[in-house]
Amino acid sequence: LTGPEFSFMCFVSGSRVVPMALAQDHKRAFDGDEGPNTGGMGAYSPLPFVTLEDEAYALREVMQRTADAMVAEGCPFTGVLYGGLMKTPQGIKVIEFNARFGDPETEVVLPRLKSDLCEVFCAVADGRDVCVEWDERAALGIVLASEGYPGAYGKGFPIGGLEGLDGVYHMGTKRDGDRIVTSGGRVLFVVGRGATLAEARAEALARVAKIDCPNLFHRTDIGHCALDDRQ
Ligand code: GLY
Repeated sequence: LTGPEFSFMCFVSGSRVVPMALAQDHKRAFDGDEGPNTGGMGAYSPLPFVTLEDEAYALREVMQRTADAMVAEGCPFTGVLYGGLMKTPQGIKVIEFNARFGDPETEVVLPRLKSDLCEVFCAVADGRDVCVEWDERAALGIVLASEGYPGAYGKGFPIGGLEGLDGVYHMGTKRDGDRIVTSGGRVLFVVGRGATLAEARAEALARVAKIDCPNLFHRTDIGHCALDDRQ
């Protein structure tokens, strides 16, 4: 199969399927989608290359039918169903399903959620209808990873510049006295917001530039599928 992959997460409660905003992960370590596979080096939402028709098809023919099939088999699903999908020349195809939120997609999808997440969780758990609203503004996030990741890497490097910085999620850090130090392969996830994906990327990169750590690297081209029309 060829074509851009994208992630379609839905809140599911039996046959009730409530779609989330679409996102795309970047699995390769380096710019240009080069280098080894990782747990994800960045993500963004929305996805201009997935049309409303594609999204409606994926919801109806993939996500809804999957939820309905689990009900028909006597094991209804309650929770987050993650569809790893691909837009191929032959249409939308399924690569994988996960029964969980995706990472790092979630860190760019949930900031766009205008509804109260706790309300959504309670409605899904109770099997009630829920109306979920999304913010039009784009979100784009960049992983700061330890040099060497996804291979061997060192830990314990101090991270400066975090104080007062918005949009920062901790993935592999720990407290060491008064300092925050690196403690994993993927260390921080830094999200920017904007009216467009280009603005969101500029904000994310500006935030990344404020972080001071001698042992971190990041990609600079997150969102290139949407921003340069390279797919
Ligand atoms: N980003 C891929 C996953 O969560 O499985």
